[in-house]
This record gives sequence, structure tokens and C-alpha cells, in this order.
Amino acid sequence: MTRRSVIAGCGAYLPARIVTNHELAQRVDTSHEWIVQRTGIHQRHIADDREKTSDLAIAAAHDAIESSGLSAADIDLVILATATPDHTFPSTATMVQASLGITRGAAFDVHAVCSGFIYALNVADNFVRLGQADNVLVIGAETFSRILDWEDRSTCVLFGDGAGALVLSAATGAGNSADRGVLATCLHSDGRQHDLLFVDGGPSSSRTVGHVRMEGREVFKHAVRNLSSVIGEVLEAAQLDRSEVDWLVPHQANRRIIATTAKKLELPDDKIVMTIDRHGNTSAASVPLALNDAVRDGRITTGDVVILEAMGGGLTWGASAIRW
Ligand code: UT7
Repeated sequence: MTRRSVIAGCGAYLPARIVTNHELAQRVDTSHEWIVQRTGIHQRHIADDREKTSDLAIAAAHDAIESSGLSAADIDLVILATATPDHTFPSTATMVQASLGITRGAAFDVHAVCSGFIYALNVADNFVRLGQADNVLVIGAETFSRILDWEDRSTCVLFGDGAGALVLSAATGAGNSADRGVLATCLHSDGRQHDLLFVDGGPSSSRTVGHVRMEGREVFKHAVRNLSSVIGEVLEAAQLDRSEVDWLVPHQANRRIIATTAKKLELPDDKIVMTIDRHGNTSAASVPLALNDAVRDGRITTGDVVILEAMGGGLTWGASAIRW
């Protein structure tokens, strides 16, 4: 028998304020039609001025812990993926840890931008497999609205705020693809492409926080190529045939990228979890937010094979195969 991590619960939080494409069209030279046709986005949630990334993360964490049937005292590791932390330091994960009243184990942030949740999940899974943690809270939380240039129509229409979380718990299994839990994760990065998607600020390079800058068309091409390739890789690592996949839960950056990626799996549209129309691109929060949607409405059920994938700044990309 081998030690592995199973999904014990999931949760999410979205700020109350919804900003429609029509509202954005009053601020920049864009239109609802352009945004829908090029991206699939109809609206996004935006945090109010007092809501920080940690607030979103804490709400999602409470939701996930409750759905797991565990209590905060059972959690011995908090890993939070974000590119929009409350502060340069300490990590936003420590804010969550304190708010939940957890005083044992460790808490830290993982930074891989839109791929952050897949990276965090992989780190959490490894901690569990190695016996270093039993119950891990894995969170993706972002307030991208704080780093958008609201005068740049090529980026400000794309992103939204939100948080999603999973609880991973240790279990034992036969060590094959019939086991429940995280079956395999594959991660990649290519730092040569760092200037295709970046923030033009930060503590060591300037005195300002900076804004998101993106060569959208170039990132699009990399996304299609890298995501198709890493999905093939993770299926092989998990010893799964693509016909065994029940659900694709992709990073929600662009409906056209998702459609092209899904073709690789030959999955029908109703097996692809889409939230981009309602959430926009919430960076590290997008995969756990979408996952939570499909679990809560009863689409994803015990035993289903779920593929998660994401690509983001760095460039970073990755995919994970899970038997729910
Ligand atoms: O999450 C991290 C990973 N991110 C991604 O995967 C994003 C990847 N990229 C994309 O999703 C797409 O490239 C975008 C949605 C960002 C842009 O779509 P596109 O079809 O690649 O458009 P484009 O950048 O090639 O721009 C086409 C035209 C341009 O005008 P011209 O030069 O053809 O006259 C832009 O100036 O659309 C214009 N444009 C807009 N027009 C109306 C750009 N943004 C807007 C806008 N409204 N908001």
C-alpha cells in the first residue's frame, strides 16, 4: 500500500460586486460583443476596497474545511497560491493560518501566477506522500483588480477576483490509477518567456506595485501548445487513457484556448467545466473556483477522473490528474 492524498473537501468565495462588460465599455474603448467573442467573458467579480486577498482566501478556506467534515485544528499545512498577496511579506498563507486559529504545522505561499494552484497542489501532494502532513489546505486566491491598468483595454477586461480551496487528506491506496486522490501532476516553466506576461513593478525593481502587462496573442499561442502537451504528459504519468477522463477543469483564461485544449482529449463540451463567462480570469483562483462549481452542483462525483490544467506568467504551466 502506498501513501497518497485524497480530496476531502472544496470551497470557494467570490466578492459580491459584479462588473459587467457593459460597465467596462463605459470606462475603456471596448464592447460586450468584442469581449464575449474573443474571450467568452460576460462579467467578473471585483473585491471592494476593504477586501484583501486573505479575506477571500479565509472565506474559501472555511467553506472547504466545512465540506471536508474536518475542523481547522486538523489542518497541519496551509499552502496558498497567489500573485497578489496582502503584503510583500509575511505570506498571505500565514494570515489565513492565524485567522483559522491554526497554531501547528506550516503555512507558506506559492507563486506561479495563473498556474499557482496546480503548483500548490503538487507541493501539497508531495508533503502528504512523504508523510510530512496529513491534512493540507490548498488555496488559490487573487485580487488582480489591484494590479490592473484600468486604462488598458487589452488587459483590464480579462481578469476578476476570487478564491477557491481544497482540503487534501492522507490515505493509502494500491498505487495505481484506480486509487482515489491525486494520481499525477506535471509542472513546467520557461523563464525565457517572462516578458510576455508580467507586472511592471515590485519591491526589488521599483517603488510601485505595478500593473499587468501582456502580449496576449503570443501568450495565446504558447497556451494552446503547452496545455495540449502537458495534458498528454499527465495522462501518461497517471497511466490513464484519454477515454477515461470524465471532466476537464481548465484555467479560465480564454474560451477559445479551452476549446482547443479540450479537442486534444476529444471531450464533448458538456464535460468541460466553464466558469469564464461569470468569473473571467481569476488567475490562481480559477481552477479551484471552477472545480468547486462542478462538485457543488453534482457534476463531479466520487470516482470520476478529473484533469486540471493551467498556464500563466513565467511562463509556467502544469496539469494534474485526480480520481475524485
Ligand atoms: O491567464 C494567463 C494566461 N493568459 C492567457 O492565456 C491569455 C491569452 N491571450 C488571449 O486570451 C487573447 O490574446 C486576448 C483575449 C488577450 C486578446 O484576443 P486576441 O484575439 O488575441 O486579440 P489581439 O490582442 O490580437 O487584438 C486584436 C484587436 C487589436 O486591434 P487591431 O490591432 O487589430 O486594430 C486590439 O487593439 O483587438 C483590439 N483589442 C480590443 N478591442 C476591443 C484589444 N483589446 C480590446 C478590447 N476591446 N478590450
